[in-house]
Amino acid sequence: MANALQPSALDQLFGAARTYNEWSDSPVDDSVIRELYDLLKWGPTSANSSPARFVWVRTPERKAALAALAAEANRPKILAAPVTVIVGNDLNFPELMPKLFPARGEMMKQIFLAPGVTEVTAMRNGSMQGGYMILAARALGLDCGPMSGFDNAGVDKAFFAGTRIQSNFICNLGYGKPNTLFPRNPRLTFDEACRFE
Ligand SMILES: Cc1cc2nc3c(=O)[nH]c(=O)nc-3n(C[C@H](O)[C@H](O)[C@H](O)COP(=O)(O)O)c2cc1C
Repeated sequence: MANALQPSALDQLFGAARTYNEWSDSPVDDSVIRELYDLLKWGPTSANSSPARFVWVRTPERKAALAALAAEANRPKILAAPVTVIVGNDLNFPELMPKLFPARGEMMKQIFLAPGVTEVTAMRNGSMQGGYMILAARALGLDCGPMSGFDNAGVDKAFFAGTRIQSNFICNLGYGKPNTLFPRNPRLTFDEACRFE
């Protein structure tokens, strides 16, 4: 059985972790992004379906293209962050089930191809993988700024043309400026959000 993480590690992932709006000039090396993917990929998904796809946008040209498709308030955040990742869901994910779930790949492929099941499975598991991405980034010492204020159809056209990948959310990554954080908003208490049965 694994031990609970040290309080400082829990704080880095949750208690002291914030959503950043402004970014220092410190770059994020491609090797850190690869390390980040190699952590988040281990997070569980339905039958190991792993429907999320990630585009790590870091060139000025592609940053500008992405920012142009974002809500006005989100544009400067995208332009200033060293990396903005587009988290998408690949609706073709069932095709990879024989590789990802060898024991019952063909069966799971057919289940996930059923009408309505593809989309809901992709959104459920792709969003979970997006959450794993945020926690993996924090675990590696990166700061995050997730955002959904952008034109999904426009981003799909500009970044996922010729595929069945649909953008879910985007997330700025880098080293945030703590002096520009908004005040922390309250969370629901245990009794407000949970119950035992
Ligand atoms: C899926 C998602 C979409 C969000 N969209 C936006 C956005 O479009 N623009 C923005 O400035 N913040 C956005 N946020 C940031 C949230 O407002 C922020 O994470 C939340 O208030 C918690 O802040 P905290 O982590 O500092 O406590 C988004 C966050 C998530 C997870």
